[in-house]
Amino acid sequence: ESYDMGGHDTYMHKEIHEQADAVDRALRGRIDDRFSTVHLGGLNLDARDARAVRRVKILGCGTSYHAGQIGAQMIEELARIPADAEPASEFRYRNPVVDPDTLYIAVSQSGETYDVLAAVQELKRKGARVLGLVNVVGSAIARETDGGIYVHAGPEVCVVSTKCFTNMVVSFGLLALHLGRTRDLSVADGKRIIEGLRKLPAQIEEILAGEEQIEKLSKEYADAKSMMFIGRVRGYPVAREASLKLKEVSYIHAEAYPASELKHGPLALIEPAMPTVAIVPDDDLLEKNRAALEEIKARSGRILAVAHQEQEKADHTIVVPKNEDELDPILMGIPLQLFAYYTAKAMGRDIDKPRNLAKSVTVE
Ligand code: AGP
Repeated sequence: ESYDMGGHDTYMHKEIHEQADAVDRALRGRIDDRFSTVHLGGLNLDARDARAVRRVKILGCGTSYHAGQIGAQMIEELARIPADAEPASEFRYRNPVVDPDTLYIAVSQSGETYDVLAAVQELKRKGARVLGLVNVVGSAIARETDGGIYVHAGPEVCVVSTKCFTNMVVSFGLLALHLGRTRDLSVADGKRIIEGLRKLPAQIEEILAGEEQIEKLSKEYADAKSMMFIGRVRGYPVAREASLKLKEVSYIHAEAYPASELKHGPLALIEPAMPTVAIVPDDDLLEKNRAALEEIKARSGRILAVAHQEQEKADHTIVVPKNEDELDPILMGIPLQLFAYYTAKAMGRDIDKPRNLAKSVTVE
């Protein structure tokens, strides 16, 4: 990949289209079919260390924090280790209990975000083991951490992160598989996840081939002053990231909620002028998600669903290819990157350099 625009009008568009290659690069040389696991050279965590981990805490900011939320779910699901993600900017100010049995993971595209770096330094001062999940090779966070995984997204120029988010989530999938295979994850499940990972580049191409439909849809919803994004469990961080993307490039206000929380308050906002984007994977929560769509429809809310099959209650559905349940979040956000891009384009926004934002926040 290069800085050459190669016919794209913005880096955002170019980087969205680089995702199949980027994912391929993240997987290359790391899969071990013989033992249904992965090799992560720089991790610096042998099988014995991995088995001793009792908790995982992931720290990042913005989009990287959202990638960390998906990563925490993958680690819980595949390795059965309690895991959660927290904004690094909050973590370091609340005098957290630093536990020697916890594996800390700092996640960052630039590897230079001050809040993440300061959290790493604080953890190290207190004797914690901290790994990095970083894009920029040799960056400050990569240097400060005890080992880690490079996400290999390649240079990301647009202030708004797209391909790096996807590669971070893929890298968390690799880490979850690695941790799982040192614990209870079976050979068969390891194989199933590897097969799922291998399908990703072709499935990403399939989503990008549907770009025209997404461009049209972005025009349908461009009149909205505010949008709601909902999802449950695996779909919730996808909804959060998609809402951040729309806010950053289009300046349209967006809220993200777990679909299960709608009835506890945000349902009051639903009306025709407040469309909802719903993440509806074909998993064990499908019926629950459909019930949420019904609730929204009953209040005359417009619905755009991102799903594995057409959703009857939705006004429009973007159908994405199905992967393994645990890996579905990697794909479901991609059409919404294009949705944010086309919405911002229709509004004449400065897509690669949104107002008030910097690519790398190296100050507090
Ligand atoms: C991404 O679209 C954002 N511009 C922003 O949230 C970013 O993810 C955040 O500032 C963290 O940056 P980092 O990944 O370089 O640490």
